[in-house]
Amino acid sequence: MKEFEGAVPIEKVFDLADGEKAIVRGWIYRTRSSGGVVFASVRDASGVVQVAIKKDAVSEAQFKDAQRALIESSVVVEGAVRSDKRAPGGKELQVTAFKLVHAAEVFPITRDQSPEFLLDVRHLWLRSQRMTSVMKARHYIVKYLREFFDENDFYELAPPIITKSGCEGGSTLFSLDYFGEKAFLTQSGQLYNEAFITALERVFILAPSFRAEKSRTTKHLTEYWHLEEEAAWFDNEDNMRLQEELVSFACQELAKKQGDLLSKFRKPEELIAVEPPFPRLSYDDAVKRLKKAGLEFEWGDDFGVPHEEALTKDEDKPLFVCNWPRKSKPFYMAEAGDGKHVLNADLLAPKGHGEIIGGSEREWDYARLVKRMKEQKLDLKNYEWYLDLRRFGSVPHSGFGLGIERLVKWMLDLEHIRDAIPFPRVINRAYP
Ligand code: 4AD
Ligand code: MG
Repeated sequence: MKEFEGAVPIEKVFDLADGEKAIVRGWIYRTRSSGGVVFASVRDASGVVQVAIKKDAVSEAQFKDAQRALIESSVVVEGAVRSDKRAPGGKELQVTAFKLVHAAEVFPITRDQSPEFLLDVRHLWLRSQRMTSVMKARHYIVKYLREFFDENDFYELAPPIITKSGCEGGSTLFSLDYFGEKAFLTQSGQLYNEAFITALERVFILAPSFRAEKSRTTKHLTEYWHLEEEAAWFDNEDNMRLQEELVSFACQELAKKQGDLLSKFRKPEELIAVEPPFPRLSYDDAVKRLKKAGLEFEWGDDFGVPHEEALTKDEDKPLFVCNWPRKSKPFYMAEAGDGKHVLNADLLAPKGHGEIIGGSEREWDYARLVKRMKEQKLDLKNYEWYLDLRRFGSVPHSGFGLGIERLVKWMLDLEHIRDAIPFPRVINRAYP
């Protein structure tokens, strides 16, 4: 905007020498006035700087505006840099011109408010330093994940979100009325990825997935961002290797290139240590370990929170749990050949952060696939197109899906998955 030309990002103020002038624009983060001075801090996307507005340094009208401007008012200020040990970052701006762009009403968020209230005013809470840092870190994590695929010759494609072909079982499907016909919000773009590989061989997608999860946990959203990879000619081993390289790349890049940001959450060294190979455990051995630890568990069950915690509490790197029981996994996973297990792996994040990736080799034989689909009582007419992929040039292939918010939760060591996404959707919340 012409009127505000010449403004610099606030972080740049800290590179200036005493006496140099700068214009910054943003929102009032804190403010107090004492006598003839208003001490405020102003934040923008890049940082926060303290500003001092002295009565005799600005016009009378500007000083009045500075006095009445409540927190979250938007402002433009011009001032001279001055070193001050007491100011955060060691510098402040001595203001020579103050423009109140918008005088905010009394901001509803004060200290020590309940998590539920902060979710009600999420659109305002996103301005907090905490959420700003999470969103920046999420941006970089997604960027590094994309870079990894790009550097490894994967094409990014766009899957449909409305589908008739459920992928992960009926109980978590959101259905919708599609002009008089039943359709669903996608749980996973995997089946479409399997179509893409017959043209492009190595592909990935990053899109929302939806799960009508009825449980309230710290790891489940009903809408999350799903990074899904699929590659022709890959077996389950190739698939796991790719996963550990991908996850390690994101960890290394974030720690090395965004160390200051990451240190707001955890020690960067902890992520630098996340290097391949990741430890591996068969499902059957995992069950033995759980029983030894005194936990109740039936062979064939999925892990709950206590089981994931027990398995990963001492791990510093993610743990692969491979070769799950056939009966516990979806129709598309290739069988291991013993009639009991499948060629798959779930990647569990350390310290109980939960499953971050689910992947497998795919069943690429037409007859075996149809048998599995019938066993799982799927309506084949909604999957005819998918079966065509096994009729025309089927090839061995594998793929996986990574939950972006699960990854962010672990990498930033967040307590709850809802803080890994700006507007979380969970069982009792689709607002704001
Ligand atoms: O293990 P899932 O269900 O696997 C699939 O959907 C495969 N079709 C993916 C593929 O092979 N292309 O989901 C994959 C990942 C999980 O490991 C987890 O990280 C995340 O998606 N996820 C969720 N994240 C947040 N909230 C939920 N309710 C999630 N459900 C799964
Ligand atoms: Mg899974």
